[in-house]
Amino acid sequence: MKEKTTKNILITGGAGFIGSHVVRLFVNKYPNYQIFNLDALTYAGNLENLTDIEEKPNYHFIKADINNASEINNLFEKYNFDNVIHLAAESHVDRSITDPLAFVKTNLIGTVNLLNAAKELWRDNLEDKLFYHISTDEVYGTLGETGLFTETTAYAPNSPYSASKASSDHFVRAYGETYDLPYFISNCSNNYGPNQFPEKLIPLFIHNIIQNKPLPVYGDGKYTRDWLYVIDHATAIDLAFHKGKNKQTYNIGGFNEWQNLDLIKLLCELMDKKLGREKSSSTKLITYIKDRPGHDKRYAIDATKIHKELGWKPSVTFEEGLEKTIDWYLENELWLKSVTSGKYQEYYDDQYKK
Ligand code: NAD
Ligand code: DAU
Repeated sequence: MKEKTTKNILITGGAGFIGSHVVRLFVNKYPNYQIFNLDALTYAGNLENLTDIEEKPNYHFIKADINNASEINNLFEKYNFDNVIHLAAESHVDRSITDPLAFVKTNLIGTVNLLNAAKELWRDNLEDKLFYHISTDEVYGTLGETGLFTETTAYAPNSPYSASKASSDHFVRAYGETYDLPYFISNCSNNYGPNQFPEKLIPLFIHNIIQNKPLPVYGDGKYTRDWLYVIDHATAIDLAFHKGKNKQTYNIGGFNEWQNLDLIKLLCELMDKKLGREKSSSTKLITYIKDRPGHDKRYAIDATKIHKELGWKPSVTFEEGLEKTIDWYLENELWLKSVTSGKYQEYYDDQYKK
């Protein structure tokens, strides 16, 4: 994509975990871009994630729901967005098992609402326009012991979450083919880092270790994920946004596979050191519980394309990233406390009662 000096960029879901890191990077790095963070502030959205940039002149927050088509159309008309980086989503697999329809609404219908608004606004001039859809490696389903997901791996989603993301990817591609809407899609592996809501494995376990609460391992814990530090994902999005080719998909991953149990043991070891606890005291909190239905065995990304074409690679090792993450949670006790009060407790009791 050609670089224009000024642009109005819509980032959806910018108050969430990954979105807040993308918003921060763009606001700080590109003072000539106007960055509009559109977020419904669901349980996962938190403006506390962005206090350091909220006063910047090129940052604007819009509280809105992507399910509200007429509001979305009005906002596109009002702010004349040149580009969209779409991260807003329901993102947690366990919640999708309990309430699939919420995922169909936001992840599929919300995405189509945005596509329609972009198609309408850009109908007479597609130059320099871009709809960048942020997706997941879970659309590819599960791997066996070997092999990697590439950009040509067939879609085979297994959870309501991944089925909703896969459908949204198909719609983005379909708008590219049918209406010539310029787009990119990137499919990324598991992110971790500061500001992640403590429902996902790493922040949940950090929180529970601090509290000396059981660490609920699904099944036998022999499931594998490919972990990427969130700021490396944001850097990849920045690169793809500026240098990617129209109608392309990029896989993004950490070249960093860990079986859950090994990861949890490493986390326990690091946390024991940081908290000045006796060696191995946190591993005693490991508790095996009922498996997640449809639990994908293994994810692993082949990120060769984005590496070769755009020169992207992760900047931190897993141990460095984990240490930074743990330090952030220990230094931001108030953040952790505020997001784990009230409704969180209800969710937690319900999810882990079985
Ligand atoms: P998150 O749950 O932390 O944040 C989602 C954000 O979207 C929140 O701020 C929430 O308020 C907002 N949102 C939800 N529904 C909305 C709606 N109807 N209208 C407007 N805003 C709404 O999610 P995340 O982990 O930061 O993931 C961001 C994106 O990246 C998602 O599309 C997800 O599928 C994708 N992704 C996540 C990971 C991961 O490991 N977390 C990996 C690959 C891809
Ligand atoms: O791969 C990318 C995806 O990674 C993203 O698209 C999703 O938005 C994100 O939530 C993540 O999905 P996972 O299901 O892989 O992440 P989660 O942190 O929920 O779980 C990671 C692994 O840990 C998985 O094998 C399930 C296991 N787990 C998870 C939780 C929450 C447990 O054993 N116990 C738990 O309590």
